Amino acid sequence: MTQVNVALIGCGYWGKNYLNLFDGDGIFGKAKLKYVHDIKQPSKKLPRDVTFTPNLEEVLLDPEINAVIIATPTKSHFDIVSKALNAGKHVLVEKPLTLNFEESKKLNNLSKEKNKILMVGHIFKYNAALREIKRRIDAGEIGQIKYLDARRVALGPVRQDASALWDLISHEIYIFMYLTEKSPISVSYSGEGYFNSVDDIVSVNIKFPGKVFATAYANWAHPVKERKLVIGGTKKAIVFDDTHPSEKLTIYDRSIEYLPNPNNFSEFQAGTREGDILIPKLNNSQPLIVQLDHFIKCLDGEEKCISDGEEGMQVVKILEAAEKSKSMGGAEVKL
Ligand SMILES: NC(=O)c1ccc[n+]([C@@H]2O[C@H](COP(=O)([O-])OP(=O)(O)OC[C@H]3O[C@@H](n4cnc5c(N)ncnc54)[C@H](O)[C@@H]3O)[C@@H](O)[C@H]2O)c1
Repeated sequence: MTQVNVALIGCGYWGKNYLNLFDGDGIFGKAKLKYVHDIKQPSKKLPRDVTFTPNLEEVLLDPEINAVIIATPTKSHFDIVSKALNAGKHVLVEKPLTLNFEESKKLNNLSKEKNKILMVGHIFKYNAALREIKRRIDAGEIGQIKYLDARRVALGPVRQDASALWDLISHEIYIFMYLTEKSPISVSYSGEGYFNSVDDIVSVNIKFPGKVFATAYANWAHPVKERKLVIGGTKKAIVFDDTHPSEKLTIYDRSIEYLPNPNNFSEFQAGTREGDILIPKLNNSQPLIVQLDHFIKCLDGEEKCISDGEEGMQVVKILEAAEKSKSMGGAEVKL
């Protein structure tokens, strides 16, 4: 594989996590961080051989740079991603791709026109627990998915350019699509903003084909950090607790069963079935490393991007439909 020279654009709260992945020899010896660009000097000391520049042009005009990682506020993504693709760079941009569908579509088309990778940082697709859930779903272990129930709350960070819907529920949307392998058929949304002009507390219901009902609640003004996802199937249910230090997954062999009514065999009655509880052991890979490794492998065709611009655009489309629902008093909007 050819040496990949990377620039990090935006070195704030999340960008610093990318910075930490690069050492003097580059990530796994395959990629080297050459520049950090930000509109302000990063608070963290940069590694040796990494140049800070407040000038984006310096990065984009450097022919040695093959790829950029963009971790700036979402409202700036369209402008920076467009410039990077037009300069012939591959792009890994943080979620959500943009703040509206038209812009996402333009970026997606541009990446195809320029034949450059456009990958979106849908980090949970690189999470060992989520991958284990998907493996068990694919193996038929939980039966047919009936519901997905997600809760993502914490005290901050409170954003001004993107609401809790766009900032937090964007994760749930691609997670739901990844686990069900389905596109939503409708969305309804309600939210409230207290601190600035965007919603801080949000609740979304999404319906998928096959009567799969997904619900997500997010709140960035919550005193306790919780990140939970429950996947209920016809056979078993899985609980993903991302904040638990070791027991992130619990698999419940429990379900609702419809049994013939002993008094009338032409009727059925619902009963509960309870079996074992399993806490599987997971590998403790770091999702951001797995994501970055995948990006690097995508650059020379070693792997096919699993969170591409197309997926980023689909997520934005659903978020936009959710906004429409809110403007209609929370009515169900068909997709
Ligand atoms: N994958 C995840 O779980 C996750 C977690 C947190 C944030 N994010 C995403 O990362 C992105 C950044 O979020 P953050 O929390 O790091 O924000 P932040 O405000 O902490 O950092 C943003 C950085 O970008 C810089 N910046 C702002 N505008 C710029 C511009 N036009 N050009 C260059 N630099 C610019 C700022 O100076 C700042 O250093 C957002 O898209 C957010 O949704 C993803």
